[in-house]
Amino acid sequence: MCGIIAYIGSREASPILIEGLKRLEYRGYDSAGLAVVGDDTLDISRSVGRVRGLEEQLGRETATFSGSMGIAHTRWATHGGVTVENAHPHRDDLGRGHSIAVVHNGIIENYLTLKKWLEEKGHVFASETDTEVLAHLIGELYDGDLERAVQAALREVTGAYAIAVVCAKEPDVMVVGRKGSPLMIGVGSNEYVVASDPSAIVAHTKQAFTLDDYSVAKLTRDSFRTSTIDNIEITPQIRELELDLGQIELGEFEHYMLKEIHEQPTALRRSLQGRLDLRGGSVVLGGITEHARHLATAKRIVFVGQGTALHAGMVGEYLVENLAKIPAEVEFASEFRYRNPIVEPGTVVIAISQSGETADTLAAIEEAKQKGALTLGLVNVVGSTISRETDAGIYLRVGPEIGVASTKAFIGQLLVTTMLAAFIGRRRFLSQEDLHNLLTAMDRVPDQVESVIAQSDQIKTATARYVNRDNWLFLGRGLNYPVALEGALKLKEISYIHAEGMPAAEMKHGPIALIDEGMPVVVVATRNSQYEKVLSNIEEVRSRGGHVIAVATEGDETIRSLCEEVFWVPDVPEPLQPLVTVVPLQLLAYHAALMRGKDVDKPRNLAKSVTVE
Ligand code: M6R
Repeated sequence: MCGIIAYIGSREASPILIEGLKRLEYRGYDSAGLAVVGDDTLDISRSVGRVRGLEEQLGRETATFSGSMGIAHTRWATHGGVTVENAHPHRDDLGRGHSIAVVHNGIIENYLTLKKWLEEKGHVFASETDTEVLAHLIGELYDGDLERAVQAALREVTGAYAIAVVCAKEPDVMVVGRKGSPLMIGVGSNEYVVASDPSAIVAHTKQAFTLDDYSVAKLTRDSFRTSTIDNIEITPQIRELELDLGQIELGEFEHYMLKEIHEQPTALRRSLQGRLDLRGGSVVLGGITEHARHLATAKRIVFVGQGTALHAGMVGEYLVENLAKIPAEVEFASEFRYRNPIVEPGTVVIAISQSGETADTLAAIEEAKQKGALTLGLVNVVGSTISRETDAGIYLRVGPEIGVASTKAFIGQLLVTTMLAAFIGRRRFLSQEDLHNLLTAMDRVPDQVESVIAQSDQIKTATARYVNRDNWLFLGRGLNYPVALEGALKLKEISYIHAEGMPAAEMKHGPIALIDEGMPVVVVATRNSQYEKVLSNIEEVRSRGGHVIAVATEGDETIRSLCEEVFWVPDVPEPLQPLVTVVPLQLLAYHAALMRGKDVDKPRNLAKSVTVE
């Protein structure tokens, strides 16, 4: 989704902005642009497509783009098509304005009303965007003080925004502001780097702070002032970013997705560290300890999330019911909010999110809070909005995830959800012995995931046999049903192959009509409580000519004899099976996308962090 990078200091801004834009590329975008303020100048360059294109265009521009303050943006279209005119930065009225430029992430919901008002005052717009309206509004309210004009404009808008604003008339001032959309301010020595996420900041400084909703920061080269949009001064908390440059660079890997698949064993070990007390027989989850009683007496637990995170929530639903014996459900965060959900006393709402910035999930949490629920966040990005807005939570600790297709975050979400279910379960009906067995098995999972990843070449060979097929089915039962959904999502989002995931039993209620000779049907068929039933589903596929690619428990000769391809996973207790069964499906999607010549890390139309509803 849109990415913002801005710089004010003593160095040339444009190389810093271009490098920052490249670091934000993973978020997903369709156009890019930057503005640099020099002595009495405001140079703007915008282009459609990759940041590389913008960089080349800068070399051809007649303006110098010389100056030590600038703002830049990658756009993911919401209002108006993918055109240069709609790309950011936007200016206040060209020719008549004050040379104000704005970059924006979010949506100004009342932009049409504001646009009409501005048009009546003679403003002429050059784009279809809501952002340009904001730029004109700031220009209209400007009387020589950029901070005041931005505060006044933000008091007029509704919606979500993270913005950075500069004005050629004030070459020593940048104003940034936020409500709802992510924005972080890196504090260097006599310089500030503002960005949508820390990956664009850490190369410059590790000290940073986040703005609260409805607040702005006025940055000069050697000082800053933060205030609410009503100009009440506030003191932000500067903290150290827990991110190293090495973590966000590709290293020896060809793609971030592959790197992150391979990082999964380490990520799991990190996530487990200090949380399993095998001797004492308990799960230690510091972030939620003070709510343990509330959780153990909960009447209902609702998981909310989107995409991959939703699939983790589906696993959570099964596990909370099985291990903790509390009624549980899972819901698309986007649906939860708008159906006026019933939240009775004793309801706990748990948001799952890698980025911690997904607008739909955040909105669901706001709804749950308003209705009095205890809210928890299972989040990866430390300090993200969801982690701050929930009452308590558990960090995934899997490290930064750059690939748009979520892999190690999913496995982290599964692990943390399992630990949470065991944490609650032990306070209810889960025996000491059962918990001990589960935790002992959990401790072995990182090594077992490593052994699955080691089959990558075999998975590649099998994928090659089916990669030209345009329709795939993914089936699973029980805990493996969300894994089937996740496998289908991975395949479609990066290879653009049509794939459907469903409960294996559902197939014969309609989708079975799709099966023809040689159609690839991926079946997650591990040895568990539903195994026999899954075998019957495999037979149903085979008798209609479908080819079964199974994910099965090592040594299962029945599956070997029935299926065209088998990806083996170690024998683990049923609650832990999704942690191993999803791995071959991630690799399958990766290899299929590469074989089809797709850009694995930057799939078309997709954004890493979806910050608009
Ligand atoms: O950051 P989040 O976990 O909240 O993101 C939710 C989804 O947008 C995300 O999982 C998406 O489905 C991924 N592209 C899946 O690979």
